[in-house]
Amino acid sequence: MEDLLKTVANILRSSKNAVVLTGAGISAESGIPTFRGTNGLWKKYRAEDLATPFAFQRNPRLVWEWYAWRMDLISKAKPNPAHITLAEMEKEGIIKAVITQNVDGLHFRAGSKNVIELHGNIWRIKCVNCNWKTVLNSPPSQIPPICEKCGGLMRPDVVWFHEPLPQDALHEAFKLAAQSDVMLIIGTSGVVQPAASLPLITREHGGTLIEINVTDTPLTPICQYTLRGKAGEILPKIHKHLKNTD
Ligand code: OAD
Ligand code: ZN
Repeated sequence: MEDLLKTVANILRSSKNAVVLTGAGISAESGIPTFRGTNGLWKKYRAEDLATPFAFQRNPRLVWEWYAWRMDLISKAKPNPAHITLAEMEKEGIIKAVITQNVDGLHFRAGSKNVIELHGNIWRIKCVNCNWKTVLNSPPSQIPPICEKCGGLMRPDVVWFHEPLPQDALHEAFKLAAQSDVMLIIGTSGVVQPAASLPLITREHGGTLIEINVTDTPLTPICQYTLRGKAGEILPKIHKHLKNTD
């Protein structure tokens, strides 16, 4: 493992355009449950059953209860050593950007500047009727929250299944993926599109893929390097090797 960490540190040090793709696993050590895997269920529901426009139409209260629960956890969570190390690596010029599927905002709170939020941000909410938007800093006191302008239903301004991703963020992410010579893929199950295609773009352009995850994923076979373990433990170790030029 030490040799592998050293090798990965050397690859990052000599890279010109390293980018990072993160998923829910990077925030697991901050106490925010992932979507899939053993602790990935809220009550009996899967993310695919709640994070859809149909689920919201059918039962806005249920969907909001789930989001209010996640908002509460996120408001109490702190960035962990994985988020913090990525912010430091950006300051040091080792990585250029973080493309995240997470809506928790923890990369920004850790100090990362160039963060592309592919799936939106949980604190932004919008009216399904008139599109009026506002930002919360705690779970809404009334569920479901009602639009101040038109009385319509407010929803989280996040990307749900069957919905398109924000055009600007998607465009930027694909551009970064095509340009990057190294992509660090951290804590994502690699099953949700189009985010899961970004590593393929980097690979097709000759870039090197490095995965950090506690388990194998569908992306593992196309990664040149895989580091098995917790992001909050592995990233600080890589960072330490980056500083030693042995
Ligand atoms: P998932 O919940 O699908 O996957 C989390 C991944 O993190 C799994 O591969 C775990 O093995 C890994 N993992 C867990 N703990 C870890 C740790 N401490 N260190 C490193 N890896 C760890 O989350 P995503 O891939 O982000 O979208 O899911 C993608 C999208 O599906 C989410 O953005 C969300 C969800 O439905 C929407 O809501 C639209
Ligand atoms: Zn409205």
